[in-house]
Amino acid sequence: MITDNTAIVADILRKEDVVAIPTETVYGLAGNAYSETAVRKIFELKNRPTYNPLIVHIKSLDFLEQVACDIPAIAYELAERFWPGPLTLLLKKKPNVPDLVTAGKATVAVRIPDQSLTLELLGQLDFPLAAPSANPFGSISPTSAQHVNDYFGDKVPAILNGGDCLKGLESTIIGFDNGSPVIYRLGALSPEELGYEAIRVNDKLSSPLAPEAPGMLSRHYAPRTKTYLTNDVSSVIGMFPGKRIGVLLFTDQSLDNVVHKQVLSVKGDLQEAGKKLYAALHELDKQSLDLIIAERLPDVGVGRTMNDRLQRAIAEH
Ligand code: TXA
Ligand code: MG
Repeated sequence: MITDNTAIVADILRKEDVVAIPTETVYGLAGNAYSETAVRKIFELKNRPTYNPLIVHIKSLDFLEQVACDIPAIAYELAERFWPGPLTLLLKKKPNVPDLVTAGKATVAVRIPDQSLTLELLGQLDFPLAAPSANPFGSISPTSAQHVNDYFGDKVPAILNGGDCLKGLESTIIGFDNGSPVIYRLGALSPEELGYEAIRVNDKLSSPLAPEAPGMLSRHYAPRTKTYLTNDVSSVIGMFPGKRIGVLLFTDQSLDNVVHKQVLSVKGDLQEAGKKLYAALHELDKQSLDLIIAERLPDVGVGRTMNDRLQRAIAEH
């Protein structure tokens, strides 16, 4: 059921069941963060390994201390500047957050989403929502109710319909290393906007064995179709004569021997491109192509986040 009725959705959540919720980043698969039953259903539906922890969504800053403690001053500063918004903070967890949510880690990931229907829903609940992106583990994140429905259909009792996600890329995850902020996952909030260009992106985390943040796994966010990433789309097209080729372009260009073309932003706007990236990949993946050739984005702002996601989309088929 796709609905915009938050009261119906709240009832389902009170019964420890799972629903899909819109956020400004991507759709989430949400359940009561304090209910092991609900959280277990999320992992099962997504086919997600239990070593991969979930983000807890709260309704306002007043609720932060219900799930986290020993919060550094800089975390409050960031929360005040960017919440509600696409920023997730890794903080020391309180014992009432089930270990299943945090995969046994000492930290909990928390954010306030910037989406009016979901904030209305959270306002009706007396518990926070644990929610990973609403896609099967490893596949492209959903940025519309229809994407979620295509993935899960009736396996999810309700999808709260907030339309297309405004940002279209997952939240930026920041943790604290001896009090200094560290970016754990590039996301919709760019380092430039954060004003923390100097924070190191923790490359140590890309080990697929025991990933600190499995969004850092090398293959993730991936279409089923074999995908290439390049600065020069037309020369890669030339390497595959006779193939059914689809292209993903930042701005438009005329190309021969292409059966499907997705242009992310005619005017070259990175925000617009970010908003459309996953929808374009979903569309390309539906075209029974032999391959997708994606154009690398300018490596600034959310262009870096998009290149990070595309890089993971191509890793080893
Ligand atoms: O924008 C978003 O963040 C969306 C919406 C629904 O809020 N959620 C999302 O969740 O992208 P998910 O589960 O697809 O990605 C969350 C990432 C995972 O890579 C997970 O490993 C990491 O956050 N994470 C969660 N808790 C963590 C923790 N305690 N320590 C390190 N990483 C954590
Ligand atoms: Mg995800």
